[in-house]
Amino acid sequence: MPPHLGLIGRTATTDEPMRCAVLISGSGSGMEALVHAQRAAPLAHQTVLVISNQTDAEGVQRALALGLATEVVPHLKPSGERIPRHDHEAAVLEVLGQHNIEIVVLAGYMRLLSPRFLSRWGRPVVNIHPSLLPNFPGAHAHRDVLTSGATVTGCSIHLVDEGMDTGDLIAQACVPVLPHDDEVSLGRRVKVEEHRLYPQVLSWIAEGRVQLTTDGLRVEGQAPNRVC
Ligand code: GRF
Repeated sequence: MPPHLGLIGRTATTDEPMRCAVLISGSGSGMEALVHAQRAAPLAHQTVLVISNQTDAEGVQRALALGLATEVVPHLKPSGERIPRHDHEAAVLEVLGQHNIEIVVLAGYMRLLSPRFLSRWGRPVVNIHPSLLPNFPGAHAHRDVLTSGATVTGCSIHLVDEGMDTGDLIAQACVPVLPHDDEVSLGRRVKVEEHRLYPQVLSWIAEGRVQLTTDGLRVEGQAPNRVC
């Protein structure tokens, strides 16, 4: 199901901020940067829940250290057997409902959300990807950028639809690829921009500035299709 036309989210205030759940699978540095930004200044969005599908993710420890409500919803049984996708997603939906979540913020969540999940959830889901989409989707963006010889990369924040890294773009930031970069050095430089851009985009959404129209996604005050 594609995201609904119209305003993305609701117009929130710093007194009644938009309630975000951040979904992670890994280190959780983006989640941590977002929470720091939300705590450094009054913003119209607040992270009230972190969900990880990986029990031993470093991000789980970071979330607990930040004092956040933190839920592990594993996609594997203790035996290592896979939990059926719809059962796993039903468990995630249950937790989102328990915490009155308004928007799902994917930050290194290494699972595709099914159309059934998106339709049952019925609220916005946003994702951050470490390349200038539609270029270099998938799990190895930095490697693919380096292999391609591109001299500029960046990050993209987009609405999530049923595809992989395919939803409407909300914002992008550019980063140079330097001659001696490897995946680690490039990834580090891209993350600086990721950590700056996510709080910014969530503010746009929470301030009622992001709209999905029949002509595409528009951010009030931003030129359409502006890349970097
Ligand atoms: C980030 O680069 C993000 O763009 C991608 O996964 C990475 C997550 O990193 N989707 P971290 O777990 O936030 O450190």
